[in-house]
Amino acid sequence: KRVMVLYGGRSDEHSISCISAAGVLKAIDTERFEPIAVGITKSGQWIVGGEDPRGWDLSGGVLPTVEVTPDCQPVTLDVARGRDGFAPIGHVDVVFPVLHGPYGEDGTLQGLLEMMDVPYVGCGVFASAACMDKHYTKILLAAAGIPVAPGITVDARAYGESNAGDLLARVEEAGLRYPVFVKPSRAGSSFGVTKVESPDAKAMADAVAEAGRHDWKVLVEQGIDAREIECAVLCPKPGDEPMTSWPGEIVLDREGSDQFYDFDSKYMDNTASHVEVPANLPEDMLRRVREVAAKAFLAVDAAGLSRVDTFVTPDGEVMVNEINTLPGFTPISLYPKAWEANGLKYADLITTLIEGVAR
Ligand code: DAL
Ligand code: MG
Repeated sequence: KRVMVLYGGRSDEHSISCISAAGVLKAIDTERFEPIAVGITKSGQWIVGGEDPRGWDLSGGVLPTVEVTPDCQPVTLDVARGRDGFAPIGHVDVVFPVLHGPYGEDGTLQGLLEMMDVPYVGCGVFASAACMDKHYTKILLAAAGIPVAPGITVDARAYGESNAGDLLARVEEAGLRYPVFVKPSRAGSSFGVTKVESPDAKAMADAVAEAGRHDWKVLVEQGIDAREIECAVLCPKPGDEPMTSWPGEIVLDREGSDQFYDFDSKYMDNTASHVEVPANLPEDMLRRVREVAAKAFLAVDAAGLSRVDTFVTPDGEVMVNEINTLPGFTPISLYPKAWEANGLKYADLITTLIEGVAR
């Protein structure tokens, strides 16, 4: 089967996607599948035959990007020709979108592939769009009876330093306690997230401006005193009962800061953290997280895969923080590691995901 692995893309998570794609391309079973690596530049051009992600040196802290090189060829899509509509590639059996963020994880690409009748790994249009937007994810989860962090959604364009006091008033009105986290509704990898410790107008204005660089729709959420526990969900065939992994936890190894797990500690510093699966929690709590993760997966109409990120509070409440419909597949990413710890090898995970949708 010819499997088009798409990576890069137009979102801020371009480089993370490149690192994820290197992982997937290294792991894919080449006796079974013929992977075709197609990069999407930051400006949105699709190319084939450029730099091979498998050859990237990811150790030096330099983030890879998809670049147009003399030996690459542009890929053009003929929507009407469907699976044969990829020039100069020809026929494609399955697309594996190893893309994170807008224009990859948000339903836009999924819509294009639906139009072309090309099978693809992962969630469909609705779940992708709903989970890309944390504001709407929370609405769906709450409607399904799943606890979420209290918060409000604001328009970053409406607030600046001059009226940040109004925003502090809204935070107070909503009964949110500090610290709060200010984050873009539609972004990932902790881009644009700031912790605001106290009702300080300048700090709040700066945080909203920072989040607003990624999305005008900004969430102000009450910081939850909890551990962040993540659960890998796998549902290879549409309609199947979702399978859940034993949940894991990202354990910070660097001492002496109350830093949250931000972009740098995620991707720029390999010594900052490690993944622990299962997370060090009582077994009944782990089971509870798995139940909530499966319920959340179904509540948003997800398919294929997702990583459900939860908060487990000291008194045992499980809240859902977010659902990543195309979770990271980097060497430090929890999704493939969680399945390995559950006895499903990286290559078999990829095979399962592809075979589930191939037709
Ligand atoms: N958005 C990143 C890639 C993740 O959730 O793993
Ligand atoms: Mg995310």
